[in-house]
Amino acid sequence: MFDYLIVGAGLFGAVFAHEAKKNGKSCLVIDKRNHSGGNIYCRQTDNINVHEYGAHIFHTSDKTIWEYIQQFVQFNHYINSPIANYKGELYNLPFNMNTFYQLWKVQTPKEAQQIIASQIADLNIQEPQNLEDQALKLVGKDIYEKLIKGYTEKQWGVSCTQLPPFIIRRLPVRFTFDNNYFNDTYQGVPVGGYNKIIEGLLDGIETRLNIDFFTDRNQLTKLAHKIVYTGCIDEYFEYQLGELEYRSLKFEHEQLDMQNFQGNAVFNYTDREIPYTRIIEHKHFEFGTQKTTIITKEYPVQWQRGMECYYPINNEKNTQLYNRYKDLANAENNVIFGGRLGEYKYYDMHQVIGAALKSVQKEFNHEI
Ligand code: FDA
Repeated sequence: MFDYLIVGAGLFGAVFAHEAKKNGKSCLVIDKRNHSGGNIYCRQTDNINVHEYGAHIFHTSDKTIWEYIQQFVQFNHYINSPIANYKGELYNLPFNMNTFYQLWKVQTPKEAQQIIASQIADLNIQEPQNLEDQALKLVGKDIYEKLIKGYTEKQWGVSCTQLPPFIIRRLPVRFTFDNNYFNDTYQGVPVGGYNKIIEGLLDGIETRLNIDFFTDRNQLTKLAHKIVYTGCIDEYFEYQLGELEYRSLKFEHEQLDMQNFQGNAVFNYTDREIPYTRIIEHKHFEFGTQKTTIITKEYPVQWQRGMECYYPINNEKNTQLYNRYKDLANAENNVIFGGRLGEYKYYDMHQVIGAALKSVQKEFNHEI
C-alpha cells in the first residue's frame, strides 16, 4: 500500500511526489498520457525541444521558487520578446516605444503618450459595456484595432463586442524601448528542456503512464491511503453539478528543412483572417543552431468534453460552479485537489510550484 496515489504527472503532482518522498512517504504517480510532465512536456525531434503543449517560458519574482526549480535544471538567458504580425506589418510586443515608433514613427515617450491620450479622448467612452470599449478606453483605436481585436476574437471565438469588459482589466503600456514581455525578476528556459525538471522531481518515484484514473477508479483508490488529484475537479465528481467550461487549442507541428524560419521564438498573428494565433519556432527558446527547424501553429478551439482543457474560463458562472465543487472537495476525505485543473485556476508554472509547496507544507506541517 502506498502513502499517496498521485493522479497526474504534471508539475503539481511531480512537486508533491518529490517532497512527499523526502518526507519518507511512498508515492505512486499515474498519468493518462503516454508521458510525464503534463503540459510542460517537450518532445525531442532533431535535437530540438518541441514544446508539445504550447510555448512555455519560466518567469517569477519569487526567489524561493527560482532557487527551488534550479535544483533540477539550469536556466538559459532567454527573454520572451514576441513579435506581432498584423497583415504583414511587424510590431514589437508588449506595447512599448518600439511598437509606437512602428505604428506612428514617434520617437519620444511624450509624443506617444499624446497620441494615445488623444485617441482615448476622441472616443469618449464612459462606462465600458464590453471588451472592445474597455480596450479602446485603455489604449485607443490603433493599438486596439491592429494588435488586440483580431487576436482576442480568435482566442475566444466571438466578437470583442460580445465579450465582457473584465477580461481585460489592464493593458500594460510601456514608454521605454523594452521588448521584455514579462516584468518578473527571473526568467528563462531550462537548458536541455523542461523534461529535465520532471525527471529530477520524479527520480526514484514509481510512475505508471497510460492509466486513466477513471477507468479503474475503485481499484486504484485502494492502492494508497491518500489521493492527490490534479485532473479536472468536475470530472472527479462525475459532473454531478454540471460542467465547467474551458478553451482548448489545436497544435500543428511542422518540421522544415531550413535553419531559421522566423528569427524569433514567438510570432503572434493579430488579424482575424489568419486562423491561428501564434507560430512558435522552438529552437529559438534555446538559441539552437541545428540545421533544421520545427514550428508550431496554435489554433484556438471551442472546448467540448473529451478535449484537452487548456484555459479555464473564470467568469462568474464558472466561478460559482467551481466554488460548489470546492465545497464537495473539502468534504472529501483523504483527497487533496491541486494544480490547474484540480483548482480550476489559470496557474503559471511558478504558481503551480508555489501551490504544490504550500500543499506539502500543510500536509507535513513544516517549512520547505
Ligand atoms: P497539467 O495539466 O500540466 O498536469 C495534469 C496532469 O494530469 C496531465 O498530465 C494529465 O494528463 C493528468 N490527468 C488528468 N486527468 C487524469 C486522469 N483522469 N487520470 C490520469 N491522469 C490524469 N506557464 C508559465 O509559467 N509560462 C508559460 O509560458 C506558459 N505557457 C503556457 C502555454 C499554454 C498553451 C498552456 C495551456 C499553459 C501554459 N502555462 C505556462 C501554464 C503551465 O502549463 C501550467 O502552469 C502547468 O503545466 C500546470 O501544471 P499542473 O500539474 O497543474 O497541470
